[in-house]
Amino acid sequence: MSSRSLVFRLSLLQQTTAVVLIVAFAALAIWISAGTLARQETRYVSDAARRVAANLEREISEEGDLAHAATAVIEESAPPDAWVDVFDAQGRLVAATATGTRRPPGGELHEVRVGLSGGAWAVVSVSTRLRHTAVSALFWALLLTALPLLVVGAVASQVLTRRTLAPLSRLTAEVDRATVQAAHRELTVPTDPAEIVTLSVAFDRLLAQVHQMLRAEQNFSQDAAHELRTPLTVLSGELEMALADPALPPRHRHGLERAAEQAVAMSDLVEALLVLRRADSASSEAPADFVPVDLRDLVRDVVAELRKRELVRDADLEVIPVGKTLVPGNATLLAAALRNLLTNAFKFTDPGQPVRVTISAGAGQGTVVVEDGGSGISPADRERIFDPFFRGGEARAARDGVGLGLPIILRVARAHGGEVTVSESGLGGARFELRLPAHPPIA
Ligand SMILES: Nc1ncnc2c1ncn2[C@@H]1O[C@H](COP(=O)(O)OP(=O)(O)O)[C@@H](O)[C@H]1O
Ligand SMILES: [Mg+2]
Repeated sequence: MSSRSLVFRLSLLQQTTAVVLIVAFAALAIWISAGTLARQETRYVSDAARRVAANLEREISEEGDLAHAATAVIEESAPPDAWVDVFDAQGRLVAATATGTRRPPGGELHEVRVGLSGGAWAVVSVSTRLRHTAVSALFWALLLTALPLLVVGAVASQVLTRRTLAPLSRLTAEVDRATVQAAHRELTVPTDPAEIVTLSVAFDRLLAQVHQMLRAEQNFSQDAAHELRTPLTVLSGELEMALADPALPPRHRHGLERAAEQAVAMSDLVEALLVLRRADSASSEAPADFVPVDLRDLVRDVVAELRKRELVRDADLEVIPVGKTLVPGNATLLAAALRNLLTNAFKFTDPGQPVRVTISAGAGQGTVVVEDGGSGISPADRERIFDPFFRGGEARAARDGVGLGLPIILRVARAHGGEVTVSESGLGGARFELRLPAHPPIA
C-alpha cells in the first residue's frame, strides 16, 4: 500500500489515535493506583510511628531508662511488618528490631522519624517492595492486554477503511471505463455515502457534457463532409468536360488538369473523413449490423477494384489465402481499411518491388498481413503514422495523399474489437498486420 493512499492514511490516523488513547489510559490507571498505594503506605507507617512513640514515652516514664524502655516496646508492641530503631540524644543506636527479620536495603524503605522526650528519637520503617510489586504487576497486565488489542485494532481499522472507501474505488473504475467505452452509463448510486453521491453526480454531469460536445463535433464534420460531396462531384465533372474539349488551348489545359487533380484529392479527403466518422460511430454502437465477412473474398474484391483504377501492379502482387476466414464485421469499413493498406503498399514501392498479402485464421481471430519490399518506415515514424494527417517525409515530398489512410485502418480495426500493428517486413519494407476477432466479444 502506498504511503500516499487514503486507506493507508486513514488507518494510520485511527491506529495512532488508538495507541495514544491506550497509552494515556494505561498511564492514568498506573498513576492513580501508585498514588493510592503510596498514600496508604504513608498513613500506615505514620500511624505505626505515632503508636511506637506513645508506647515509648509511657515505658520511659515507667522504667526511667531509654534502653530498657526501647527493648520492651520493640519486643512487646512493635507494629507488624515494620522496623523500629531507637537512638539516644547523642545519636547512638540503643535498640533495634531483631536482626533475624531481613531488612530490605535503605532505598526500598519508607522511613518516618519521631522525636522523643530528652532529645532521643525513633525511626519506624516499612518496606516499599509490596507497593512496587503491585504497580509493576499492573503495568505488565495493561501491556499484555494492550498489545493484542492494538493488533486487532490495526486489522479492523484497515478493513473498515477499505470498506468505507470502496464506493470511491468503484467510482474510479467506472470513470475509467466510461472514458474507454463511448457509451456513457450513469455513475451515481443513490445508496452511496453523501460525499460520493455528490462526486458521482458531478462526474455524470461532466461526462454528459463531454459526450454532447463530442457528438456535436462528429455531427459537424460529418455534415460538412456531406455538404462538400456534391459541389466537389459537380466541380470534377465540369473540369473533365472542359478537358474533353479538343479545342482547349494548351496553356489552359495544363491549369485545368491541375485543378482536376486537386478536385479528386479533395473528394478523396471528404470520403476519408466520412469513413472515419462511420468507423467511430460503429465503435460506439453495438455491433448489431455486423455480418460474417470472408476476408479472402474481401481482399479479392478490393484488389479487383484497385486494378480497375490502375493502382495495382499485378506482376509484383502475391496473395496467399489460407482458407475461408470469416470475421463478423461491416464489409464497407473493412474494405476501406484493406484498400488503404493495399494502396499504401503500392504507393510506397517502385515497380519490381514485391507486395504480399497473407490472409490467415487461427487463435480466435482472422488476420490480414500486407507487406512490401519498399523503403519501409523508420522506427521514429512508426509511432506517429496512425495519427490523422501525419505523413512521412518521403510521402510529403514525392507521393500524393492526405495522411488519413492509416487512422482509418486503426479506427476500423478498433471498431471491430481488433488491432493493427506495424513492423518491418522480411521483404525489406513495411509490414502491417490487421487482426480481427473471429467472434464478437461477449458484451
Ligand atoms: N507501406 C508503406 N511503406 C512506407 N511508408 C508507409 C507505408 N504505409 C504508410 N506509410 C507511411 O505512413 C504515412 C501515413 O500513411 P497514410 O495514413 O496512409 O497517409 P498517406 O498514404 O495519405 O500518406 C505515409 O505518409 C507514409 O509515410
Ligand atoms: Mg495512404
